[in-house]
Amino acid sequence: MNSQPMALDNDSCDRAIRANFLHFLGDPDERDDACEYIEDGLLILKQGRVTALGEARDWLDQLPDGVELDDYSGKLIMPGFFDTHTHYPQTEMIASYGSQLLEWLEKYTFPTERQFSDRSFADSAAEFFCDELLRNGTTTSAVFATIHPESVDAIFSAAQKRDMCLIAGKVMMDRNAPDYLCDTAESSYTQSAELIERWHQKGRALYAVTPRFAPTSSEQQLEAAGRLLKEFPGLYLQSHVAENHAEVAWVAKLFPHRRSYLDVYDHYGLLAERSIYGHCIHLDEADRQRMAETGAAIAFCPTSNLFLGSGLFSIADARQHGIRVGVATDVGGGTSFSMLQTLNEAYKVTQMVGDTMTAMKAFYLATLGGAKSLYLDQRLGNFGVGKEADFVVLDLGATPIMKRRMARADSIADQLFALMMLGDDRAVHATHIMGQCRYSRA
Ligand code: GUN
Ligand code: ZN
Repeated sequence: MNSQPMALDNDSCDRAIRANFLHFLGDPDERDDACEYIEDGLLILKQGRVTALGEARDWLDQLPDGVELDDYSGKLIMPGFFDTHTHYPQTEMIASYGSQLLEWLEKYTFPTERQFSDRSFADSAAEFFCDELLRNGTTTSAVFATIHPESVDAIFSAAQKRDMCLIAGKVMMDRNAPDYLCDTAESSYTQSAELIERWHQKGRALYAVTPRFAPTSSEQQLEAAGRLLKEFPGLYLQSHVAENHAEVAWVAKLFPHRRSYLDVYDHYGLLAERSIYGHCIHLDEADRQRMAETGAAIAFCPTSNLFLGSGLFSIADARQHGIRVGVATDVGGGTSFSMLQTLNEAYKVTQMVGDTMTAMKAFYLATLGGAKSLYLDQRLGNFGVGKEADFVVLDLGATPIMKRRMARADSIADQLFALMMLGDDRAVHATHIMGQCRYSRA
């Protein structure tokens, strides 16, 4: 840390937060000093951005007049979690019994998403969803809306009220879905373009062109998605790929001239930096190489992949190819809003494919790794100077069993592992956005 702590004044400091701090400076697989842990630290902020992070004892008695001090002594603060793939309209249908992907879409998802043509319904769902993110310590999320432009206005409005950095977009879907949930190549282009003009890079909002998945888009619609990406700078692209065997076989029938499912997207220019693909379980070597060389990211959705019986994703395969990976809840195919519970299931999936995931790697993926997968690591993901101060305050003794287990933890790595296996929303004591407390369990 600072060999000589900087002097604080009102130009550098308007808020200070006291706690134990943990964040990542890089990938723990790539460097031994990736993790920085400061016991009894102080995070210094000015207008919601990080000025410094150091030892509390160096600064506590020289905080300038008027500086607000949030005292979370004994709690653990980390950068807010990144949920790199989720569906806010599916919140209410989470945990719906008994089917795999394609049947589950027909039976539960499409009828649920139909309701989002009603703006007030969408507003209520979006408000609940954003509150649920904050209750779970998630500060940035890449979110699917529905085909209805109103549903996109609703989620960006709810995020804006809470000053959250959110990525979202209108689902594009013009075939193989009920009539009530289909747009056309042209209307999806026009409506997306209007939403981009209205929301993209306004405040902290970021727009993602969102073709649902190849089976529900015509070639014309995929081409329109590619056109949007070319016409508007800085956009994201989010979709699904290679999640389920029946889905993969269906895509092969629908697009017989393409080498693979991923190649369908590649053909229309949808593989690039800021492209985020959910699942990516059933990719081959050539696909992985394309993901890596184009800079596209994988959203690893462990609870969803287990719940829908989709398969076991190998993070080792992705790593070998140098592909960007984030972790994601994929609510409502996923079964929890909690990133802690999502890391728990990620660990178990990794065990099942004969690999391992350390707690350090897991929390890296949920924070800086997630930010990197979304190309937001220049702004977010750790407490580097100038970064936007979105963070989560964690209570490692939130439940009786956590207290009992933590009492025998012999290292921070051991504590973190117990946290991700035993923790859930009860372990989230508070969540701050741009320095401000936006959720407090108390
Ligand atoms: N593939 C296409 N749509 C969806 C969806 O809503 N959820 C999941 N898990 N996979 C999909
Ligand atoms: Zn999804």
